[in-house]
Amino acid sequence: MEARIAILGGDGIGPEVTAESVRVLDAVADRFGHDFTYVAGRVGGNAIDEYGTSLPQDSLNLVLGADAVLFGAVGGPKWDNPEIPIRPEDGILKLRKNLGLFANLRPCKIYPQLIDSSPLKPERIQNVDFIIVRELTGGLYFGKPKRKWENSRGRRAVDTLAYTEKEIERVVRVAFELARRRRKVLHSVDKMNVMETSRLWREVTSELSVEFHDVELHHMLADNAAIQIVTNPSIFDVIVTENMFGDILSDEAAVIGGSMGMLPSASLAAAPPTDGKKRRRGGKPALYEPIHGSAPDITGRGIANPMASILSAAMMLRWSFGLQEEADAIEASINGAISDGYRTVDISNGGGNVMGTSQIGDMIAGRIRMNR
Ligand code: IPM
Ligand code: MG
Repeated sequence: MEARIAILGGDGIGPEVTAESVRVLDAVADRFGHDFTYVAGRVGGNAIDEYGTSLPQDSLNLVLGADAVLFGAVGGPKWDNPEIPIRPEDGILKLRKNLGLFANLRPCKIYPQLIDSSPLKPERIQNVDFIIVRELTGGLYFGKPKRKWENSRGRRAVDTLAYTEKEIERVVRVAFELARRRRKVLHSVDKMNVMETSRLWREVTSELSVEFHDVELHHMLADNAAIQIVTNPSIFDVIVTENMFGDILSDEAAVIGGSMGMLPSASLAAAPPTDGKKRRRGGKPALYEPIHGSAPDITGRGIANPMASILSAAMMLRWSFGLQEEADAIEASINGAISDGYRTVDISNGGGNVMGTSQIGDMIAGRIRMNR
């Protein structure tokens, strides 16, 4: 098949890890006979430096003309001053909003080979395999009013947490549908003992559960969910929650496997197709990105772990293009490389055969070409 993929590497290690994904995608294209073309654009801090905006119109146009987007990371110390009016992070937020990417899928899967890198006791994280569905275009991130001002009594600031029932329903539906295809357990996370939006969230979720009586629904308070993720993570199958809770809980979930450098994500504007067909054409493209950020501390050193980005490319093949076998091939190569002891420094735990970013990318691409 033919596909046009927008590559938005962004800042810090974003471009470094994304470049390795492109090499891996090329290997997939060669082995399976596909034709992928790439169009690259700027986003984030480097776009601010170059164009004075975090998401230039050119980049948005290029994304809108693509079948899917592979995103790296944005931000860095250079743009961290809270006083500056334009932030690199606005780039990804605008992309999510413009593309209507309301459902963010963040899988948390433990690699048994890396269990020693986990901050948790090994017995706690055995068989952990869950996915967080984070609402991505509403809540505190986008609610209005959102501003900071000063009057005679001093400085004030406000952010707004608002949700409509439609916004809740569509993302919870995605989560129910995913759970239905997995172990059929859904935890809906809220803070209904305090917040009106959470009470509405719980109401809408309970109403929707009637359509999904084959899925076991549990409501859980967000603070308790934070505890369960580190004490009892194997109870989870699918978690669904609002934007800010999802941001925080997914970072927590990402590190229990040992490194944030392993976890991919998909941001979708519709439920994942069940028919294995290519999605897009007429609609807007989905976006795939590693969960980790721009990691300024290791930028330019060639040691970043590209696996989260490469696994995001695998999610793209699976969810946007319906290429299951190809996605499986990427995942199998990564699994095989880890089993054979190859590591980037973040997952080395003092051992293994430690490699740099492009060496790992090369090796994974090579394994795909050789079907191993
Ligand atoms: C994430 C990131 C972003 C977010 C930032 C970069 C705006 O932390 O994707 O989780 O808060 O959503
Ligand atoms: Mg985050």
